[in-house]
Amino acid sequence: MNEVEAIKKRHSVRNYKPDKIEPDKIAQLKAKIDELNKDGNLHLQLIENAGNTYNKLLNRFMGLSTAPSVIACVGKDSETLEERVGYYGEKLVIFAQTLGLNTCWAGTFNRKNIGADIREGEKLVISIAIGYGQNQGTMHKSKDVSTISQAPKNSPDWFNKGVELALLAPTALNQQKFLIKLNDDETVDFIDKKGPFSKVDMGIVKCHFEIGASL
Ligand SMILES: Cc1cc2nc3c(=O)[nH]c(=O)nc-3n(C[C@H](O)[C@H](O)[C@H](O)COP(=O)(O)O)c2cc1C
Repeated sequence: MNEVEAIKKRHSVRNYKPDKIEPDKIAQLKAKIDELNKDGNLHLQLIENAGNTYNKLLNRFMGLSTAPSVIACVGKDSETLEERVGYYGEKLVIFAQTLGLNTCWAGTFNRKNIGADIREGEKLVISIAIGYGQNQGTMHKSKDVSTISQAPKNSPDWFNKGVELALLAPTALNQQKFLIKLNDDETVDFIDKKGPFSKVDMGIVKCHFEIGASL
């Protein structure tokens, strides 16, 4: 399965089988995390036993009942941390999907129970539930291309493909509060229309757009 196929197959999964992720896949995930941490100057961590991370009533209310494992998205606090977490975290989510695993970005979780290694000056931004889903999730409702993008007439194929994959990106509360603008000089601006976790969303959207635009 390539990245585009994984993007098309991925949906948030909120109910998981109790099965642990196999050791060879754990090793592949850890190797990918090392690579992404270097590229993004982050401290993403795979916590094999999610324990009580998703055991709060609030999570059940949101529909995320449990998960066998979790990725703690940690990094040195900075202006760009949230967006980098979104960008590199989504690369990991797509990679996990190619391994046949399911995921769910989760801003609501038990921060005390996650058991992340958070060093001096670092911040825990968000979690990603990971494991084998009891189902594959469902396709989210989407805004129109014309609502989330702006381009001169006859926009190039690479831009249209980028926008198409950006619409498949997971966003907090499915808010899709972003605008992708193609300028006359063929540069692209990403505009954050602001909402909860919209900086993380922006990184996720850029990751998807780049993959689409480079096809
Ligand atoms: C930054 C972020 C935070 C999220 N937080 C939660 C959460 O706390 N609980 C939850 O059940 N889903 C959460 N989600 C999942 C979104 O609800 C989901 O991505 C959106 O509804 C689109 O659906 P899809 O991921 O299946 O495409 C979050 C997603 C993102 C990107």
